[in-house]
Amino acid sequence: MKEIILKTPTSESKVYCGTNAFQCYISEYKNKQIFLVTDTNVYALYSKLIDDTFGSNCPKCVFEAGEQSKNPETLFKILNAMLSSGMRRNCTVIAFGGGVVGDIAGLAAALYMRGVHLVQIPTTILAQVDSSVGGKTAVDMCGVKNVIGTFYQPETVIADPMFFATLPEREVKCGLGEIIKYGALDSNIYLKLIENIEGLKCGSFLSEIVFDCIKHKAQVVEADERDENGVRKTLNLGHTTGHALELFYGDKSHGEYVLIGMYCELQLARKYGICGGQYAKNIEMLVLKVLEKLPQFEDIQSAADVALHDKKNDDDNIVLIVPEREGKCAELKLPLLEYKKFLKDCFDNAR
Ligand code: GLY
Repeated sequence: MKEIILKTPTSESKVYCGTNAFQCYISEYKNKQIFLVTDTNVYALYSKLIDDTFGSNCPKCVFEAGEQSKNPETLFKILNAMLSSGMRRNCTVIAFGGGVVGDIAGLAAALYMRGVHLVQIPTTILAQVDSSVGGKTAVDMCGVKNVIGTFYQPETVIADPMFFATLPEREVKCGLGEIIKYGALDSNIYLKLIENIEGLKCGSFLSEIVFDCIKHKAQVVEADERDENGVRKTLNLGHTTGHALELFYGDKSHGEYVLIGMYCELQLARKYGICGGQYAKNIEMLVLKVLEKLPQFEDIQSAADVALHDKKNDDDNIVLIVPEREGKCAELKLPLLEYKKFLKDCFDNAR
């Protein structure tokens, strides 16, 4: 088991990773006033573990699983339940689940009585390598993703691979999408992925690589907690196109859209001479190992319009973070029309 301390100017988060992390570190919270937030899928799988660990009467809010629950109504349902179960200022919110649970429970913890303790127990690979670490909390509103949110660091993150045993294949693929993104940002992760290309889904490999991804993310967050100086936005590699397609089509997992976005943005980096040679071939190979093949979409040019709303954009351009070479990415700015044409060609060429 390994520990990472993530220090920001105003907080310190302890991240415990590895087998038995849950059993070892959750005991610290057994005698505290806790409020558990989870969703119906996770609760169906882990109600016994939750009851055995926190007691069957532990105050909790179990909301309907799915991205559609990440809204102000669910947020207020959680806050209401916290108030009516008598939570005090020194209580601890335990976010037990995937990315939606972590984001919404984190926001509830940030708002309740102007901020209470927060523990993240991410149960998906995606949540362990990305959303549970770094303090981004949010809900969606009026069809806009993450439009209401805060930066609010958890005091503890417990990333235990035991939860991967119950993940459906699609969730594993989703997590690998984000892991391969880290491979394009960090040469240590890249080399491990290339060496283990045939065993990416193997349990012991996943445990090790999840730790490496969290370590990378912790360094990025320490350098740019509030996404202000350009360091944190590197975590959005593949996400400009991925998010646009996800918002427009929405029929695949987030990680699959990140992989599709990485594929397209790698071709862009090739076209503009930013990335090439064996490195570009290897990144493409990793992406296709998980994605299998680039899916086709109807009306890709309209989907590309959605990228116009990406937070990274400047006034006139779509801003993309693209792979460059081992451990290094680059920023590419393109006018919308050029981006749209490129995206169409990219999918046509892959037919
Ligand atoms: N998920 C990207 C970030 O935490 O900045």
